[in-house]
Amino acid sequence: MLNTDKIRADFNILTQKDGKTPIYFDSACMSLKPNKVVEAMNDYYFNYPACAGRSSHKLGDKVTKKVKETRQLIAKFINANNENEIIFTRNTTEGINLLANSLGLRKGDIVLISNKEHNSNLIPWLLLRDKIGIAVKIIPANKDDSFNLNNFSELINGVKLVSIVHTSNLDGVTNPAKEIIEIAHKNNALVFLDAAQGIPHKKIDVQDLNVDFLAFSGHKMFGPTGTGVFYGKYKLLEKLEPFIVGGDTVEFSTYEDYKFLPIPEKFEAGLQDYAGIIGLGEAVKYLSQFDFNDIAEHELKLNAYITTELQKIPQIKIIGPEDAKDRTGIINFYIDGADMHKFAIMLDEMANISIRSGQHCVHSWFNSKKIFNSARVSLFLYNTMEEAETFITNLNKIIKIL
Ligand code: ALA
Repeated sequence: MLNTDKIRADFNILTQKDGKTPIYFDSACMSLKPNKVVEAMNDYYFNYPACAGRSSHKLGDKVTKKVKETRQLIAKFINANNENEIIFTRNTTEGINLLANSLGLRKGDIVLISNKEHNSNLIPWLLLRDKIGIAVKIIPANKDDSFNLNNFSELINGVKLVSIVHTSNLDGVTNPAKEIIEIAHKNNALVFLDAAQGIPHKKIDVQDLNVDFLAFSGHKMFGPTGTGVFYGKYKLLEKLEPFIVGGDTVEFSTYEDYKFLPIPEKFEAGLQDYAGIIGLGEAVKYLSQFDFNDIAEHELKLNAYITTELQKIPQIKIIGPEDAKDRTGIINFYIDGADMHKFAIMLDEMANISIRSGQHCVHSWFNSKKIFNSARVSLFLYNTMEEAETFITNLNKIIKIL
């Protein structure tokens, strides 16, 4: 069981006095940052703000060592085969763009995606469709928008890449990644998983999943903004062309020629966000001290309460399965014809409750359903039942007012 009081003391923003502490229900967009993460970044800026991997002095050596440590921590965290399979990026979006631009897709190649992909796992493929003529196909989902393995199996023949979300930021549902990967591999297709939403809440073991490529962001898992990771099986990374090239990607160059550095350096062009990477290492350490089963149990308790209370309000419709246990830490809801931004603004003004409203970067899904927008509560390990109760009390007041 989680000790929320102890956890909350690790976050400066959750220890504000005079009613200034927010009820933070927007961790699917951005998690809060433990003080240790911020301190590690400040320590870099205050005490050794140098370059990694090039300068032969003590400060540079320390940065190189810290960056290596983070790479090793992340490799262990996702059970990668070796640390060189970990490529630092700015976020999940950059990871997906790296893949889209490096895989060598050609006209006619098929990329299969689900019907609730984030724009970051839709637009790069649509752009390639428009630029070089790949085909992008959508796997029809079940009625409640969960993944339909039969429909997937029917479409998989001849597919080059299956690119799907692991846990959806729209409804919190986790796709059956292992089965998807098995079916894809039997049909010679590669699989990429967008793990941005899943990784803070679920154990991800890339070897157990046997996934080919995976990306996630630091900012949803206690890490700094502008940090992310792209993972690939080493043998497959060897076949990828770097997407962004220049300084730090080559071993040597002449006016006519160049030779790339080995993986991962050849994919990490230019000076990196060293403070961010060091902060990300601290975030991974922070998250690693918890058991994912405890996190899931805690989120489910709050989710189940909020879900039950929302189900008592006839106008409210929950996106995805009705049962909270299928939606990890997310409760996304709407009222037909209502602008859910109003609810978010009023919750913030009345009770300092931060939720996200809008289309959550899954515009394609909203447009296909003709739903204007929704209000999303997303939970994490620092949230409490008392916060959930305050949310429900204020939501009921707003329903009455509007
Ligand atoms: N993908 C992020 C969210 O769902 C931005 O809020």
